[in-house]
Amino acid sequence: MSTELRTKTTEEKSAPHGLWSSRMVFILAATGSAVGLGNIWKFPYITGENGGGAFVLVYLLCVAAIGIPIMMGEVLIGRKGRKSPINSMRILADAEGKSRAWGALGWSGVIASFIILSFYSVIGGWATTYVGYSISGSFSGASAETVSNLFSDLLGNPWKLTLWHTVFMGLTTLVVARGVHAGLEKAVKFLMPTLFVLLLMLVGFAMTTGHFGAGLEFLFTPDFSKLTTAGVLTAMGHAFFTLSLGMGVMIAYGSYLPENVSIAKTSIIVSLLDTVVALLAGMAIFPLVFANGMEPGAGPGLIFKTLPIAFGQIPGGIVFGTLFFVLLVFAALTSSISLLEPTVEWLEEHRGINRKLSALLTGGAIWLLGLVSVLSFNIWSDVAPLGMFEAFAGKTPFDLLDYLTASIMLPLGGLLVALFTGWAMSKESAREALDMLDGPGFDVWRLLVRYVAPIGVTIVFFYNLG
Ligand code: TRP
Repeated sequence: MSTELRTKTTEEKSAPHGLWSSRMVFILAATGSAVGLGNIWKFPYITGENGGGAFVLVYLLCVAAIGIPIMMGEVLIGRKGRKSPINSMRILADAEGKSRAWGALGWSGVIASFIILSFYSVIGGWATTYVGYSISGSFSGASAETVSNLFSDLLGNPWKLTLWHTVFMGLTTLVVARGVHAGLEKAVKFLMPTLFVLLLMLVGFAMTTGHFGAGLEFLFTPDFSKLTTAGVLTAMGHAFFTLSLGMGVMIAYGSYLPENVSIAKTSIIVSLLDTVVALLAGMAIFPLVFANGMEPGAGPGLIFKTLPIAFGQIPGGIVFGTLFFVLLVFAALTSSISLLEPTVEWLEEHRGINRKLSALLTGGAIWLLGLVSVLSFNIWSDVAPLGMFEAFAGKTPFDLLDYLTASIMLPLGGLLVALFTGWAMSKESAREALDMLDGPGFDVWRLLVRYVAPIGVTIVFFYNLG
């Protein structure tokens, strides 16, 4: 008993920010980060645009060959450094006798998560608004035009967007301010199981539409003639975004991971759960789309413009429509918490700034930057700050922030993680940090992180630039 207590204290001493209470909680939190708008909003529509099954297959391959190895790399950096992404990178670079410039990887992560959250929160605000629309019956019997107008009216109204962006950012800040145990853990312990139950209910509902088979067929029958090069690259990029990689989020979460937990196993579980949620979201959405004779390739408007029409036609649509958007808000919230964490953790490492203040300052600054995205959908919708360059013509400030982070900083961050853990760290310290002392697992990981991941990410990177 007493030895148990003593080991715990030593371990906790080496982890100044505290530790997750159990492996289960880490899995919930990391899955909460991974499962977000990417799974429920983006995955279904990019699958729809790219013809279904074959795209899903490529995406699964990318998760396995690139996503999981890089996630393991991030978690190992965090657990070994026990600090925010910036300081963990410095500590590890020092320990390996490498340049402190590797700290740039941490910086890029902190800055990127800061920027992403600023617009993620605005979109989280849309989802929150849609809960209200659904409860109040705005979709009942509504025509495609009415539903489409609801969406454009929302985007055209800066006050409304700001209101819900404020609510969403406020909730996120509140959770993070309460710390790892009272905040993050408590939130994910409630939100994640609820999210799974809601999702299963929605899949059950989709089964009653009579078009469940068509939905499954669309998702799971590979038709390679519909797969383009662009589709392959989109699948690879998405594997990255959906697993929350490249921004130090998994470094921050890894810095609270207890020593005795297997990084490989948990990373695999988190990636599997994330994938299962994306597929279940597809299984909930496509049958509704087909049951109402609508287009699966409708693009980004799929869940905001297409799905509400289906909810408006189907018996039980008010209840299930509301559940759907509640699910979306929960998924977005557990991701936004993870996006706030790296910056808050970093600020907290400065003397005199405690967690509450750090969360408040960071949350406030991100809220302010979020206004740029709010205005991009209305008053500034014609403003193109980099319009003098042909590649950026017509891109609003929101488009630019999205492009800078998702297409540039995120793959770059992932590439650096792969290079650091695969090349800069010695084989022995990587093996020790991962705690993979025997079996072929370590060699497979190292092969993927040294060659497969860097090459894959580089290809996506240049494709995105082009
Ligand atoms: N993975 C989340 C989603 O699918 C988004 C997200 C959260 C994210 N944290 C991240 C993306 C860090 C990249 C990096 O919606």
